[in-house]
Amino acid sequence: MTRWTSSVGAPQLARLLGSQHGRGTVTPLGGRRTPAYRSLADGIRLLVLEGRVPVAARLPAERELAAALSVSRTTVAAAYEALRGEGFLESRRGAGSWTAVPAGSPLPTRALDPLPPEAGESMIDLGCAAAIAPEPWLTRAVQGALEELPPYAHTHGDYPAGLPALRQALADRYTARGVPTMPEQIMVTTGAMGAVAAISRLMAGRGERVAVESPSYANVLQLMREAGARLVPVAMARDLAGWDLPAWRQVLRDAAPRMAYVIADFHNPTGALAPEEQRRELVEAARAAGTLLVADETMSELALEPGLELPRPVCAFDPAGNAVITVGSASKSFWAGLRIGWVRAAPDVIRGLVAARAYADLGTPVLDQLAVTWLLTTGGWHEAIALRRAQTRENRDAVVAAVRRHLPDWDFTVPRGGLTLWARTGGLSGSRIAEAGERLGVRVPSGPRFGVDGAFEGYVRLPFTVAPPVAEEAASRLAEAARLVASGATAAVETPRTYVA
Ligand SMILES: Cc1ncc(COP(=O)(O)O)c(C=O)c1O
Repeated sequence: MTRWTSSVGAPQLARLLGSQHGRGTVTPLGGRRTPAYRSLADGIRLLVLEGRVPVAARLPAERELAAALSVSRTTVAAAYEALRGEGFLESRRGAGSWTAVPAGSPLPTRALDPLPPEAGESMIDLGCAAAIAPEPWLTRAVQGALEELPPYAHTHGDYPAGLPALRQALADRYTARGVPTMPEQIMVTTGAMGAVAAISRLMAGRGERVAVESPSYANVLQLMREAGARLVPVAMARDLAGWDLPAWRQVLRDAAPRMAYVIADFHNPTGALAPEEQRRELVEAARAAGTLLVADETMSELALEPGLELPRPVCAFDPAGNAVITVGSASKSFWAGLRIGWVRAAPDVIRGLVAARAYADLGTPVLDQLAVTWLLTTGGWHEAIALRRAQTRENRDAVVAAVRRHLPDWDFTVPRGGLTLWARTGGLSGSRIAEAGERLGVRVPSGPRFGVDGAFEGYVRLPFTVAPPVAEEAASRLAEAARLVASGATAAVETPRTYVA
């Protein structure tokens, strides 16, 4: 059986290697005193660790890469040999060579678990990208829901597709955003996670290929892994430029995945916003490949730049909802404690999903649905979101300033929306910083949690959910953690408790 799930061509690999130059991370090919084969091996290793080249991606034949890089074939052969020795490459005669990560690497096997609030103030929790409720809107919404409750009290309370009033309000919201939608195209779920779980159960079972952005949202990656899906990572474009469309086309063509899961709006963890043209092209490429595109809009309301013009939703390029299944949620725009998410798709897809979710949770709490209905139908939704955006913008600016002050060699692009900053940790291991941070009272998820197979070791994710003074203290503790890691002092540190998010 072939072990690779995607491939990277010689010109593409040459381009990726070239883009590393001058970024202070690798010695350029043929650089001072480093043998050329070593520089090449280091460059490829870094591309794998950063997720720029996915794990299990077939590399070009030695001869082709040598020609593309204008180096000798012996150089490429020696680099491949070195990578094989270090566990970053596997080869089989006739099948070629494909990327890997060494056995025993700290692969993430868990998703993101929030720390209980009672964990105390001594630990700053940067693990969870969810904010406090935008009061007074939560209280008002629940009061409004209580007033609407009496007629429902006389029913069985079991609404597997969601309350008709909320389905209508959500459909109206899509229509107002320019994508005409009927209530039959909406199913209310228990958070976006409930939506993705139902979709995975119905569409992407054991052994099915699912293409995902690399990096992507850790909990969805974990959910799909546990469902037995074979994840095919596709690297994001650099500098928050959205998707790498040529890479997507190649994966859709070569791997023909059953499903692809993408976050077009303020991507978690990078914050990237896919431009409208990319949305159109990805929908077309997925349709041509027969791949179902799942577009997670959980972050879509979190534009942080005033006046930022948002592209049309991904489903605008498949309004019937046969090729694109949209997932939404009130968790980030309003409050995660309500556990309200939804799916928008064609009515018969919705019917299949309603049947698929029945074995998991039967339905979503009526009172919570009434609260979101109240928000959407009274205008409270817009006011609450305006408040949420203002708070998040302030928090984002504080985190950015604090990291620049305390960790000047950390490198990132400031996102225009969303809840997270994806930071390169100045060449240090993000996992080690996370371990050291936990001992110093700051809990931060390291990059590999957002990668498919050990990629992104040089990253951490920082959320915009803590107030400015806390961000300042968190960055100062992280700087101390980074100093410990840089000095090698953490090697002797015992492994911390296992709840690192
Ligand atoms: C992209 C994305 N999808 C889904 C979720 C989970 O959402 P919910 O709380 O609605 O289950 C999150 C939470 O961080 C997220 O960032």
